[in-house]
Amino acid sequence: MNRKQAEIRAGRLRREIERHNRLYYIENQPEISDYEYDQLLEELMEIEKAFPDLVTPDSPSQRVGGAPLQGFQTVRHSIPMLSLGNTYSQEELREFAARTERFLKGEPSQFVAELKIDGVAISLRYENGILVQGATRGDGTTGDDVTANLRTIRSIPLRIPEIRRAIEARGEVYMTRSGFERVNRERLAEEEEPFANPRNAAAGSLKLLDSKLTVRRPLEVFIYDLADKESGLTLHHQKLGRLSELGFRVNPYHRLCRGIDEVIGYCDEWADKRGTLDYDTDGVVIKVDAVSQQERLGFTAKSPRWAISYKFPAIQATTVLQEIRLQVGRTGAITPVAVLKPVTLSGSTVSRATLHNEDEIRRKDIRVGDTVLIEKGGEIIPKVVKVVTGRRTGKESPFRMPSACPVCGGKIERPEDEAAWRCVNPFCPAQLQRTLEHFVSRGAMDIEGMGEALIGQLVAKKMIRDYADIFSLTKEQLVSLERMGEKSSENILNSIERSKNRPLSRVIFALGIRHVGSKTAETLAETFHSLDDLSQASLEELEGIEEVGPVVAASIRGFFDSAKNREVMRRLKDAGVRTQEKRPASRRELPLSGKRFVFTGALSLPRAEAEEKVKALGAATSSSVSKNTDYVVYGESPGSKYQKAQELGVKCLDEKEFMDLLRDL
Ligand code: IVH
Repeated sequence: MNRKQAEIRAGRLRREIERHNRLYYIENQPEISDYEYDQLLEELMEIEKAFPDLVTPDSPSQRVGGAPLQGFQTVRHSIPMLSLGNTYSQEELREFAARTERFLKGEPSQFVAELKIDGVAISLRYENGILVQGATRGDGTTGDDVTANLRTIRSIPLRIPEIRRAIEARGEVYMTRSGFERVNRERLAEEEEPFANPRNAAAGSLKLLDSKLTVRRPLEVFIYDLADKESGLTLHHQKLGRLSELGFRVNPYHRLCRGIDEVIGYCDEWADKRGTLDYDTDGVVIKVDAVSQQERLGFTAKSPRWAISYKFPAIQATTVLQEIRLQVGRTGAITPVAVLKPVTLSGSTVSRATLHNEDEIRRKDIRVGDTVLIEKGGEIIPKVVKVVTGRRTGKESPFRMPSACPVCGGKIERPEDEAAWRCVNPFCPAQLQRTLEHFVSRGAMDIEGMGEALIGQLVAKKMIRDYADIFSLTKEQLVSLERMGEKSSENILNSIERSKNRPLSRVIFALGIRHVGSKTAETLAETFHSLDDLSQASLEELEGIEEVGPVVAASIRGFFDSAKNREVMRRLKDAGVRTQEKRPASRRELPLSGKRFVFTGALSLPRAEAEEKVKALGAATSSSVSKNTDYVVYGESPGSKYQKAQELGVKCLDEKEFMDLLRDL
């Protein structure tokens, strides 16, 4: 494929991919399978790899995340991002309507009622139809430039070909509840602090400096405003319609209301129904529909007079706390959980609440038998807000932390700087259960069909004592278990077999070494290429790796210092689990190691070939020039990259000089 052909094909692929993005993420009507979609994207990335100068900022390939940033640039919003006044009752809503009418000298208004999405406010700037900047609200006047992170959100269009003039779209980035649960499950598996609620998770994800991590976060967007002076639209609800036509994702539940009674009806309706959505909404935003009226109403110092937010009452209920149960985690951490008399809370039955830790129970003076007020915020598991002390009968019993592990009866300890007690018995069945659950989980060995219940049986029957035992399970053993037939046993054995081929990084992650999450596991696999080498690495070697601090290094060393663990590693290896990976030719010794090349202009050999040449010699290539670039190789009619290289004083080579350089190495 020559350059011209590549350019044409890339353009087609981009339009096609973005069309499928829109069908999938915005219209919910996909036309092709995920596999077919991936194929299109892969083809595009191949072309862009061969012809890096064909990469455009609106290419769907840019959604996969780029190089990590040092920090975010600050951007000034062209129009300030204001906040809204809050109301908590119907009376206040009526006052808002009356105030509006007075201000408009008796002229009646229509309102648009929208769900107030509980996420992070963002602003998207498009120039020439291309997304050029995305920012957080910040203090309302200036925010952070989080463009790279926002590009990873597939429901944000990278192009809106219909409008060339500069416009800004505003909306809310949020994380779905199901996505939030998944993220937190993964974080727990990696021993990372879980997010408190989907809003924090969304905010945290947008603030990641490495957009390659943001891609993995299930973020979505709803756009609710279009700043475009020339749109000619006179009503807010028309703007929402226009935004949809342009390809933005607009929440479908907005409603045009003729008067405040209809608004109140909407608020009541959604106060009940909000639990049915897969995202959090904490209220309703009410906006005056007519743009001309909005202009007359104007703003107070902080917020528009033409809009207000109505906050839903918190979802709370009272019930009896029947028991405080203790759960033992993979690393032995013991967490108390409240077992509640089942109660209905926003449509679902609740029978458990988190109590966090011993101190929390003491602070709130929570006793078994108490009537408690529980609340469902953004969190999936509700929390105990307080004890309804007026309901105490005197029969309640204060909670006392047991002196032994509730599962194995072994010793428990509370490290000085931690809030949690831990069971220190490494053979505690609860720890084994959680360790195994982690080992087989999706991000680790991904052994399909091996769930909590099955592991529970295997542990109880002592068929598994450590994870290496998984690989010697037999069909007879599996069939002998409850709810296991011939077919399901075979399926499980097949998944176990398949798991032996997981990449080394997954195997390292699966081991459940404390503080070694999937990212660190990847780095370790890339550095050591085998479990043997990793297990022999000294503390100094480990600490020498970026990302690995003294705590993580000590944890890794401690893990492999255990004779028991070393024996398990040997058995994993004997069972045929992948414990080493091919080592790519060491880059350090190659003549161009550490050098960075950028090619620009037409060379007599294909760009891809030139790149391959330098890569084979250990160099890296890049599509843009920076002060880190070592050489810019320019062909005929070089463009801005050549100019930039000149400005930065980067060494520039024409084709002949380039060939000479290669020859002289
Ligand atoms: S309109 C002038 N509409 O709520 C402000 N805001 O305090 C116009 N929010 O951080 C905001 N859903 O990001 C508007 N449908 C919606 C919204 C919404 C959520 C957020 C917004 C802002 C806060 C307003």
